[in-house]
Amino acid sequence: MMEMERVNRIWHHRGYQECLGKIRVHEEAREFCRHTPEHFLDVARLTYILALEAGSLPEKPEEREEARELIYAAGLLHDIGRHLQYEEGIPHEKASAEIAEGILSDCGFAEEERELVLYLIRSHRTRQQGKDLAPLFYRADKLSRNCFACPAQEKCDWPETKKNLEIKL
Ligand SMILES: [Fe+2]
Ligand SMILES: [Fe+2]
Repeated sequence: MMEMERVNRIWHHRGYQECLGKIRVHEEAREFCRHTPEHFLDVARLTYILALEAGSLPEKPEEREEARELIYAAGLLHDIGRHLQYEEGIPHEKASAEIAEGILSDCGFAEEERELVLYLIRSHRTRQQGKDLAPLFYRADKLSRNCFACPAQEKCDWPETKKNLEIKL
């Protein structure tokens, strides 16, 4: 299998693109953080960097490649249910996990792989502790936001301690 092939399948998945389109419409006039392909890939790449630095990736090349694919899958999918939070008030980690499950199956991820990705999605707003990938994913999601360059920084309800007021990674 070609490197990152399944990740690219997610990107091209019809249901995935439909959700992206809905999120884009909802966020057209949003002055705070948007949920864009840039954010999704920043989260994936930051998680991968954090995992590399933590030495928490497998040594074997094929296992490492699988881990990277799972991290990128989680990055692409973690906010994909955001429109359902805008439309129906469903917490987006739940909505995203539900949508992601079908997309992951369609794109060839086995059950065990889906479990890990769905766990990262479900816990991305809360899981700050632990030795697995989830706290790294949580951190990456926050680190991805360039508060220092954001014109809406003053109005944003993120606590000051959470904001990235300088470049960290
Ligand atoms: Fe999120
Ligand atoms: Fe996010």
